Amino acid sequence: MDPTARPDPSVITIFGAGGDLTWRKLVPALYNLFSDGWLPEHFAIIGVDLRELDDDSYVAHLKEHLEPADENTWNDFARRISYMATDFGDDAAYTGLAETLAAIESEWGVEPSRVFYLAIPPTLIETAVEKLGTTQLCRDVARARIVVEKPFGRDLESARELNRTLTNFFDESQIYRIDHYLGKETVQNILAFRFANALFEPIWDQRYIDHVQITMAERVGVEHRGGYYDGTGALRDMVQNHLLQVMCLVAMEPPVSFEDEEIRNKTVDVLHAIRPIPPEEVAHFAVRGQYAAGWLEGERVPAYREEPDVAAGSDTETFAAVKLFVDNWRWHGVPFYLRTGKRLPVKASEVSIHFRTAPHQIFPSAAVGDWQPNRIVLHIQPDEGIVLRFQAKRPGLKVRLSPVDMRFTYREAFEDVPPEAYETLLLDVMQGDSTLFKRTDQVEAAWAAMMPILEAWASDTNPEVSPYSAGSWGPDTAEVLIARDGRSWLTPSVGQPG
Ligand code: BG6
Repeated sequence: MDPTARPDPSVITIFGAGGDLTWRKLVPALYNLFSDGWLPEHFAIIGVDLRELDDDSYVAHLKEHLEPADENTWNDFARRISYMATDFGDDAAYTGLAETLAAIESEWGVEPSRVFYLAIPPTLIETAVEKLGTTQLCRDVARARIVVEKPFGRDLESARELNRTLTNFFDESQIYRIDHYLGKETVQNILAFRFANALFEPIWDQRYIDHVQITMAERVGVEHRGGYYDGTGALRDMVQNHLLQVMCLVAMEPPVSFEDEEIRNKTVDVLHAIRPIPPEEVAHFAVRGQYAAGWLEGERVPAYREEPDVAAGSDTETFAAVKLFVDNWRWHGVPFYLRTGKRLPVKASEVSIHFRTAPHQIFPSAAVGDWQPNRIVLHIQPDEGIVLRFQAKRPGLKVRLSPVDMRFTYREAFEDVPPEAYETLLLDVMQGDSTLFKRTDQVEAAWAAMMPILEAWASDTNPEVSPYSAGSWGPDTAEVLIARDGRSWLTPSVGQPG
């Protein structure tokens, strides 16, 4: 990183300071930014949560998970962290916070940016937003920002309600709805790949592309998040946000500039163009599964229903596959197949663009044995890179064709270790850049696209959630979804992009 454009002095207040996200992602990201010299001299973190802790024990708790390599850097970082044990629903919390902020600001003698990061369960968000709004802690529109973590509502109606609450108290420019996938280097690179090159754009449409697949697979189960996940499921947890956002970057029209509003306009256009799924046809467009017990790398792993905090007879989906169409000239008739699941064989996220076959085949059938159409695979994680598959003539006296791969890997091309998604996003919030954050209309359009599926799944008429063994690629219904169109899922091959 090149620390030339440090943000203004900033105080980040984290609601939910004792939660997973804070110690696993947010604080390590802030620490990395700090040790790389990205943070301003005047910088502080205030952790807010219910649990009774003093500053020292809170800092010790963070350090335990972070295991910093350099003690001096850690000490310098840690002295900027304080902790407030309080209840977000209680007015006293906000008066206390106002006093702490005022004390920091008077000590610094500057007016810093105030970032309020809501890393709290959805049930508490509205309360926190209302209290932050009514207590005037965010009245400086230019300097006060509020970051809202997903899930942003649980359907279109609740998302609208949350948006109404937020926009009642805050200007849209103050609201940062986070989707950490947009902070990933490889996801941002989709824009560079498409729009910094003249090569791909002319063939990026229904004339040349047969279909697109987006897979986000995880090996882990629900871990200790059963309480949250059981009321959520894969469609709300991953498809409504991460998968649709990545799909937007793949499908969007070329923006005229890199301005945040322009990029967001173009992504929301894609969401609005998604063809609504007719309620009676949902089973043909979306399937769901739930992991049963199985084996992963020689280890027996439990069924979803045996996980802590999951209801015994739960029918929450841990796998979802969806087929969508984007009804515009560019994508007419091109299916986008999206799938995600927990307890799949590997952790891998990738986008594959499958091209049509060459219009005229000049080679004899004996020459084209294992011939395959062209495809481009964007490896989002791991093995970050891009692989272009095309046919080549095998060396030899006879003409025989074989598919070969041309690879770009981040590891080989760049020496820099890419920043974690949360580093990019937190820095953007401090710098007031909302390009990678979702606007009201983006969130609502994404929910609107998912509503027919959610409604069908909530009704009794739809097929039940299909079980799949942990360690498999999901339920058979997912294979059927794509096989019905004469296609098959591309299996991510981790360790060797291709
Ligand atoms: C989160 C989901 O948004 O993304 C989790 O809530 C999921 O269930 C995670 O595990 C996956 O993110 P990543 O960056 O590890 O692919």
